[in-house]
Amino acid sequence: MSQAEIGLIGLGVMGSNLALNIAEKGNKIAVFNRTVEATRKFYAEAGELKGQIVPCETIEEFVAAIRPPRPIIIMIRAGEAVDQQMEILKPYLSKGDIMIDAGNANFRDTMRRFDALKDSELTFIGMGVSGGEEGARHGPSIMVGGTEESYRRVEKVLTSIAAKYENDPCVAWLGENGAGHFVKTIHNGIEYADMQMIAEIYGILRDGLKMSAAEIGEVFGTWNKGRLNSYLIEITEKVLKAADPLTGKPIVDMILDKAGQKGTGKWSVIEAQNLGIPATGIEAAVAARSISSMKEEREAAEKILGLPPVGEFTVADREAFIEDLENALLAAKIGAYAQGFAVMSAASKEFGWNLPMPTIAKIWRAGCIIRSQFLDEITTAFTKAPDVANLIVTPAFAAMVKETDGALRRVVSAAVLGGLPVPALASALGYFDSYRRGRGTANVIQAQRDFFGAHGFDRVDGADSHHGPWGSGLNA
Ligand code: 6PG
Repeated sequence: MSQAEIGLIGLGVMGSNLALNIAEKGNKIAVFNRTVEATRKFYAEAGELKGQIVPCETIEEFVAAIRPPRPIIIMIRAGEAVDQQMEILKPYLSKGDIMIDAGNANFRDTMRRFDALKDSELTFIGMGVSGGEEGARHGPSIMVGGTEESYRRVEKVLTSIAAKYENDPCVAWLGENGAGHFVKTIHNGIEYADMQMIAEIYGILRDGLKMSAAEIGEVFGTWNKGRLNSYLIEITEKVLKAADPLTGKPIVDMILDKAGQKGTGKWSVIEAQNLGIPATGIEAAVAARSISSMKEEREAAEKILGLPPVGEFTVADREAFIEDLENALLAAKIGAYAQGFAVMSAASKEFGWNLPMPTIAKIWRAGCIIRSQFLDEITTAFTKAPDVANLIVTPAFAAMVKETDGALRRVVSAAVLGGLPVPALASALGYFDSYRRGRGTANVIQAQRDFFGAHGFDRVDGADSHHGPWGSGLNA
């Protein structure tokens, strides 16, 4: 029997689907799982793809089944388990073999793992894979970090399994060591912001306009045909229109309002802070998930504080307001993406990756969770101006911000006056208003810092005088 060209360890949901995708695209693949039963079950259910799959019950058998130099995908829970798996694997590997971590790893772990193998004969690839179960099976978006040479060796297989946007495969080599996992982390951070903004708009429609889940579903369905067209809007419509089999009610009304999170959103915020780049949309989204999980505390607080005493939520023209909501969501989304790309641009300099912004936008156009038509517009904007300081000052996006920020302002104002929480939408407005204002208010902060700590300041006239005359008088 001919040897497999690639191996995969970890037959959980993502691993199984990725393995079937690889097999279906004509690549022979060896698979291994820690528990033998999972391997047997996977193989038994592989149907007509069995001929492309070599199920292995021991690591020795698995490694021997792959043609050297071997690319081996590790698709297991991120964290220590990956280090353990690598240690188990290493003694069986030989010169040129590549271990590919395809989980949602923290890029700092990826850098460490990459460095640890630097002087050995083995190499390491950190590979972000987005698209959930369905994406893994039929075409994910794939973000690769490692040496370019190691990427070239797996490029053919990865290209065959990646999602295609108008025939363009959504896979790319993005840079050395942790580049792929960093970009995947920011993808997830943007995903958090996108989801939170959608949830806030849903909240305005539900609690402000008192619409039913199905009615709100209709609104999202209509928006999905317009400029907001995206996978997340599409599934939001489906989610809102689904009925609970137990009660017949809308399933969303039966789901507890406590959001889970596994870490990538938080990592995005931490890294943005480390780099000194504002990512307020992602921050608001992570914080909103944290507040959501304090269900009991929130219920107790509602009893003590009550809901804001604002009376009925009123809008003069319902139809015009719903149109405002659509534009507000687009404006806020622009803010979140602009921030995500700004974080990647700073990280690229900090870690010496040379991240290709147009390519990142390109490979997010299909396959991944944040896929949308909007990403094609971002691709065009970055292709025209790859080194621009911020997406919102490119001509196309500046025009979009100017066109939609009025709606965002009206929606945020209405929500605030109506006592409805819109932290992510409001963060985008605050970001635009601060970023576009040449003269801000940090002069007072600098003065305060100098007052209490003699930290010094620069003057607007450039004069060489860096401390204040604190205590001197000035009449109002
Ligand atoms: C994707 C998703 C995927 C996963 C996240 C969800 O790109 O396919 O982002 O990676 O759904 O881990 O993260 P949370 O559990 O933190 O929401």
